[in-house]
Amino acid sequence: MSFTAPITLPGLTLDLNWYKRSVFYEVMIRSFVDSNGDGTGDLAGLISKLDYLQWLGVDALWLPPFYRSPLRDGGYDVSDFRAVLPEFGTIDEFKELVTKAHERNMRIVMDYPLNHTSDQHEWFQQSRSDPDGPYGDYYVWSDTDDKYKDIRIIFVDTEESNWTFDPVRRQFFFHRFFSHQPDLNFENPAVREEVFNIVRFWLDLGVDGLRLDAIPYLFESEEGNGEGEPPTHDFIKELRAMVDRDYPGRILVAEANQWPREVAAFFGTEEEPECHMAFDFPVMPRIFYSLRSQQADELVRILSETTDIPSDAGWGVFLRNHDELTLEMVSEEYRQAMYGWYAYDPRMRSNIGIRRRLAPLLDNSRAELELAHAILFSLPGSPFLYYGDEIGMGDNIWLNDRDASRTPMQWTPDRNAGFSTADPGKLYLPVVQSLVYNYSQINVESQLAQSRSLLHWIRNVIHVRKAHPVFGMGDMTVLQTNHESVLAFVRSYEGSGTHFGDQPEDVLCVFSFAHNPVAVTIDMSEYAGSALYDLFGGGVFPTVNEDGTLTLTLATQSFYWLHIGEGGYRR
Ligand code: NOJ
Repeated sequence: MSFTAPITLPGLTLDLNWYKRSVFYEVMIRSFVDSNGDGTGDLAGLISKLDYLQWLGVDALWLPPFYRSPLRDGGYDVSDFRAVLPEFGTIDEFKELVTKAHERNMRIVMDYPLNHTSDQHEWFQQSRSDPDGPYGDYYVWSDTDDKYKDIRIIFVDTEESNWTFDPVRRQFFFHRFFSHQPDLNFENPAVREEVFNIVRFWLDLGVDGLRLDAIPYLFESEEGNGEGEPPTHDFIKELRAMVDRDYPGRILVAEANQWPREVAAFFGTEEEPECHMAFDFPVMPRIFYSLRSQQADELVRILSETTDIPSDAGWGVFLRNHDELTLEMVSEEYRQAMYGWYAYDPRMRSNIGIRRRLAPLLDNSRAELELAHAILFSLPGSPFLYYGDEIGMGDNIWLNDRDASRTPMQWTPDRNAGFSTADPGKLYLPVVQSLVYNYSQINVESQLAQSRSLLHWIRNVIHVRKAHPVFGMGDMTVLQTNHESVLAFVRSYEGSGTHFGDQPEDVLCVFSFAHNPVAVTIDMSEYAGSALYDLFGGGVFPTVNEDGTLTLTLATQSFYWLHIGEGGYRR
């Protein structure tokens, strides 16, 4: 069952499509603010910065795992799904976070790595030592390591096989990720029930949604490749039905690093929905490709692929996150080009991707940072920001693995960048002190003090986006242009027709990837004769010609968002 109409309770209207209108912000609790001086970020620290996030215009937080964990995979190796890692705080502090976020109309989406556990989890300890006991069948055990030959290895830098021999049980166990992260056996009904109960546990605490980590990999089979196998989809459908029935308004977000059609499969169908949202892995690397190739065609091609998604479904668009910039969804030729442009030092690479932050990837070019964000905020779907990218934070490629871009948030030019009062040697990771991105230069305080800073620019764009529901709710039509470096599309929205008060609106979005100024002619036949206004300052632009063409000039790596038609309504 799927809901489209808002639920109205006395004094409260719940917009069931809230996620489509939201700006999300990924914040690793460990990395944001340390409230007690132990060198590690915590829940209390995050609570103390909710005002900042509200000021920025953030509607929802995505919290990577904060469960009890040995932290050998940034917390995605969970040893107790019902406990908060003590150094991050307590369940009561988490409840306080939910309450304080909700007071600010901000929602909380938390990560749920349901595919696997840490080998420190009690289930695994029992499973390996008591094969006939209640947990004996909780994991995928085998006497040999030659099952599921067609299932690829994901962490190619560290793993040689998806099977590891356990000397206690004297059998092999299956794992899609690190060898300390055994996969749960979803064939076992008891495991599926555990998952439902864990979902209920957190939704009962008021959480607004769950990011379903590694969702394609739940079931494996001899015939398939272990990615999006039919029983995996059946399971998600059941989970969604339970959430819609018992927790309407809460969402499931799919992390499926796959090709467009396979990712879209995780939305399910109108009749049998699966996830409300899915990250747009195919679009992301193509934004970076276009920035360097000065060609819009790959982006145009992927955006023009009409992937039919259910009416309630929404994409999660992103530039960076806590993982490497994955290049799994591009061809070998493009991958090599991107390594050349963005990861010229081998230290910058990780698995099949690049472990750098946004600003260093773009060589700290303000024009490119603005262009990339303008695309992020206008593509169909909801934007997901990664903490620190709003100030153009740098990274540290001398750290291991993806820690390169998980360093402490830079708040001030003071000790430990204002992140912590601990002895600098005690921090969970050192603050960035490189020449260009040194925290004494790049920090929230100094950017707040400069009206033209990246931080103020991003905040402004967020607020413009939020004033125009077309960006969250509208359709997209990609337009033909006569310039290979220019991407142009129209976002259109009929208005909600409900009491949310949305007006119909059409917005023309034009982006130039060229490294020099260009003139471009765009085919806008549907809008012949329409007036155009800049969405930021209201400036009047040339009217679309009666023959349906529009000629614009664009400065180097620049963009326009133009309202089409008179006075906020269609012509
Ligand atoms: C995806 C997460 O984003 C990543 O950080 C993690 O290492 C893997 N899943 C395994 O849980």
